[in-house]
Amino acid sequence: MILVLLGPPGSGKGTQGALLKSKLGFEHISTGDMLRAEVSKKSPLGLKAEEYMKQGLLVPDDLIIAMIKNILIQAPNKNYVFDGFPRNVNQAEAFETMLNTMGLQVDKVFYFDLDDDVIIKRLSGRRVCPKCGATYNIYYQKPKNDTLCDNDATPLIQRDDDKEEVIANRLRVYKEQTFPLIEYYKSKNKLFVVSADGTQEEVFEKLKSML
Ligand code: AP5
Repeated sequence: MILVLLGPPGSGKGTQGALLKSKLGFEHISTGDMLRAEVSKKSPLGLKAEEYMKQGLLVPDDLIIAMIKNILIQAPNKNYVFDGFPRNVNQAEAFETMLNTMGLQVDKVFYFDLDDDVIIKRLSGRRVCPKCGATYNIYYQKPKNDTLCDNDATPLIQRDDDKEEVIANRLRVYKEQTFPLIEYYKSKNKLFVVSADGTQEEVFEKLKSML
């Protein structure tokens, strides 16, 4: 089964992708996490991607599509949840072509619907562990100690693109480039709308009931 999590920045795609992995065994593919790993390794891909990510812009499609192709070629027969991909119509079309050649298809697309004021609070309050990748939120999901990761006591950091000026840019890019995917998948009868307001557990239960 191939699922896509679609929604604005901060709507909870990463959180729900991680739950689909830990509770239902899906392979969680987050293009954002993959790119951040390349950036911290300072690989050629990471160095290119960093310039775009810092500004809240999309990384060029050809780099992203090559990354996804690489994953699917190596293991085409897993249950996947894609989080943050596809991100525009061009990526969606390339994804469809790629899947078709492998005899696969996107089964369901979950659109996480959330108001801008909640999005901004979730993004500005997000803190992450640079060591294990655990995600917290100073408003909604505090670590036991204010500044340290519960898993390994590493000092938590704020993502560069969660700073106020970059958040505005990410929301603009989302509205211009990603939002049209809602119609794209609706026209293919694959779109399921999930209200992303509510606790993480409540959103997960809604998601599970639509699977
Ligand atoms: P990416 O990492 O994909 O960022 P994003 O889509 O902006 O999504 P986020 O990770 O910010 O949010 P999320 O929806 O996953 O929410 P989360 O669960 O973390 O991409 C980063 C950059 O990489 C892009 O800007 C672009 O440059 C590049 N990129 C990535 N993919 C690309 C692609 N396909 N093409 C081109 N470029 C690409 O939750 C957010 C916060 O809210 C957390 O603090 C969490 O604890 C909290 N939270 C989550 N759920 C709840 C809840 N139910 N209640 C209360 N709090 C909650």
